[in-house]
Amino acid sequence: MKGKPKRLPYSDIDLSRWREYDHIRVESLWLIPSRDRTGGHRLDYHGGFVPQIATQTFLRYTRQDDIVLDLFLGSGTSAIEAVRLNRRLIGVELQADLVEKVRGKVPANLLDERIFVLQGDSTRGETADRVRTVLERMDASHAHLLVLHPPYHDIIRFSDDPADLSNAPDLGTFLDRFEAVARNGFDLLEPGRFAVLVVGDKYTRGELIPLGFYCMDRMQRVGFRLKAIVVKNITRNERGKGRTENLWRYRALAGGYYLFKHEYVMIFQRPQRPSDIRQELLRVQAMLPWGRVQSDAWDAASRFIYSVRTLDDLRRETKRAAREAGLPLRAFGQYVLRRWYNYHTHQIVLEMILAHPRTRAEADPFHPTVDFYLDGIGFDLKMSEFPRAYPHDLRYALDHPEDLARWLYIHQSQQGRFHGANRLFIVLHDAADPDRTWELRRDFERLQQAVHTFLDSPRLFPMEFTDGTGRRHTPTTGVIFCIRALED
Ligand SMILES: C[S@@+](CC[C@H](N)C(=O)[O-])C[C@H]1O[C@@H](n2cnc3c(N)ncnc32)[C@H](O)[C@@H]1O
Repeated sequence: MKGKPKRLPYSDIDLSRWREYDHIRVESLWLIPSRDRTGGHRLDYHGGFVPQIATQTFLRYTRQDDIVLDLFLGSGTSAIEAVRLNRRLIGVELQADLVEKVRGKVPANLLDERIFVLQGDSTRGETADRVRTVLERMDASHAHLLVLHPPYHDIIRFSDDPADLSNAPDLGTFLDRFEAVARNGFDLLEPGRFAVLVVGDKYTRGELIPLGFYCMDRMQRVGFRLKAIVVKNITRNERGKGRTENLWRYRALAGGYYLFKHEYVMIFQRPQRPSDIRQELLRVQAMLPWGRVQSDAWDAASRFIYSVRTLDDLRRETKRAAREAGLPLRAFGQYVLRRWYNYHTHQIVLEMILAHPRTRAEADPFHPTVDFYLDGIGFDLKMSEFPRAYPHDLRYALDHPEDLARWLYIHQSQQGRFHGANRLFIVLHDAADPDRTWELRRDFERLQQAVHTFLDSPRLFPMEFTDGTGRRHTPTTGVIFCIRALED
């Protein structure tokens, strides 16, 4: 039986059907037999990358309608792939004639609507500002994937323009200019999203210059986190074979070096900014009750909550989704706000838990019953308000956490995530004003203290309960109380 679709916030891949994605590469060696010449790709330019690099990375790191930003557009391979895969794109290229050529390849109805091609120098702040203006026109604040395929310094000279990276007078200048482009790209990319760097090494006077690794280092300096180094074979033009091939073989043998047969596809991620989302969560002024039960349709329409990091973006995405799915804006907006607030406060508390030396993370973000391991035992994290329907008072619960835990297990929502596996409960209660208990989810200092006090000497207990269907469960559980007392 197929489960509910499981999608990461940055891709349309449904992880519940992961076996069906044979065409998506997950290994770090890409032997690509030949250039894909279908779907509008032509071999009319020396120095482009094979379309498969765009196909693979767009499918893994973008959703439909996402915006790809390519700051070295060249002959527009990524623009054509964006059209084919129904993504949007902003491309920047220094050479005006190439810009015109690419514009000629893009279907007229998409040009300047979904595909934008700018002539400019990607090292400059002024070019980044022009990209920002286009993003605004596209109703977005950031791009969703960054593609960088710079010249490999002076291996191929692309133009006579002194601003062209292939005309940088020396390696240091080339790297500084590359870093300027990477920095622009970093600022224009949405936090949490990915960047693809396609780059190769070179030889200068018999010495290997590891350009790929130097560029990687510059990416890291501007703040990107490295996720993967893929080695991709270079597929040469068949015409290059024969006599010249033999000559190169001879030179390699004679000179003690190896012929490049590979280049790199490096994947980076712009980190999220944890502190920013805390500020945004603190800006939420009111929280209405759920108002309706969680439904699959509303859940599917509000999937954007996972990646959205600001209230402004949340508002904009909510409006767009309500319009697209024909949902009532007010009610859907309240639902989205609570889902977003609960999800991100849960993630922050999970980060607090994972900062403790006794814990480690579960690698699968969709693991049905484990968020983290405490002393090697897997637990699901559950944050709950102290339930009004619980038959005893708070004092009793503090003295008998097992009783409260049993009650919470038995009375958990019957929808979706009902389970009897190990759980760590965080129980919140504002004694002075119970209606404001929702605010304790963002009382980060209080939570931090409660969580770490508990984890320093965790009090876990075995539990036994029978669910509504008569099944017996025997989880290990614990309760962390986070209480705002009357005198606080
Ligand atoms: C390796 S090619 C990119 C090829 C592209 N991925 C494709 O598939 O066609 C590098 C491109 O960067 C451009 N370029 C060089 N310096 C630049 C700069 N400062 N700003 C923008 N583009 C630049 C060159 O004109 C060249 O077309």
